[in-house]
Amino acid sequence: MGGKVTVPDVRARKGGQKLTMITAYDFAMARIASEAGADMILVGDSLANVVLGFDSTLDVDLDVMIHHTAAVARAEPDSLLVGDMPWMSYHVSVEDGVRNAGRLVREGGAEAVKLEGGRKRLPVIEAILKAEIPVMGHLGLTPQSVNSMGGYRVQGKAVDEAREMLTDAIAIAEAGVFAMVLEGVPDVLARIITKEVSVPTIGIGAGAGTDGQVLVFHDVLGMHDGKLPKFVRQYADLRGQAVEALQRYFRDVQSGEFPSDEETYHMGEEAEKALLEGPSSDLSWPLSW
Ligand code: KIV
Repeated sequence: MGGKVTVPDVRARKGGQKLTMITAYDFAMARIASEAGADMILVGDSLANVVLGFDSTLDVDLDVMIHHTAAVARAEPDSLLVGDMPWMSYHVSVEDGVRNAGRLVREGGAEAVKLEGGRKRLPVIEAILKAEIPVMGHLGLTPQSVNSMGGYRVQGKAVDEAREMLTDAIAIAEAGVFAMVLEGVPDVLARIITKEVSVPTIGIGAGAGTDGQVLVFHDVLGMHDGKLPKFVRQYADLRGQAVEALQRYFRDVQSGEFPSDEETYHMGEEAEKALLEGPSSDLSWPLSW
């Protein structure tokens, strides 16, 4: 693509070349994602799990999300920067939701926000959009609803549930979201939603029929030792490579191989000699080191 990706660029890709989105949570990851050509970077609340080691995304608040979003923004990625609204940042009141979306933009540098839920969230989605902040929707297995869902389960497997989700998707698309994530839903339902809504759908565990795909950075690059979900394809083993590289470094330190002369600072020969010989009579020289 080349150049900064904008919300209208993403909208225009509906039904065209597939959209790519990857999560990133800090400056270095954002540089990597942008250089690799990600259309969108999502500073997801999945950082609760993969960066901070919590069990669920319910453990991060807006200040944490702003902190990480701002680090990603400082990388000045070409990718569109989407900031995730954490649990309880848009559930208390519409006013609160708009104010918090504004903080993610003003303090975090997000160019759009993502929030979970369908018709239930229409008032807050509409109000954020009225504040000129682009909104990405998120339906299906919405991790912030883990307790009401009774665990992390594929959603929309029953016909009535699938119809409800389709109605939600149409409603948030008509409200004006510029794209929506479909997470953990059966392939056929993702295809139907993708056909019925006018905005791009971005799948994660939703099969190949969506307008784009998103995965978590740590999953794609193999940065964990835990079990990966069925929908993840791991493209690298960075954890394995990192462990191996650190082991070589520690071995070199212990054997005296590191640092070498080339990795060491020196004074000029004369200055070094003068220093070693002693500069003045009032110091006992050479110093006893
Ligand atoms: O928080 C996150 O990373 C997400 C993606 C998995 C869509 O919401």
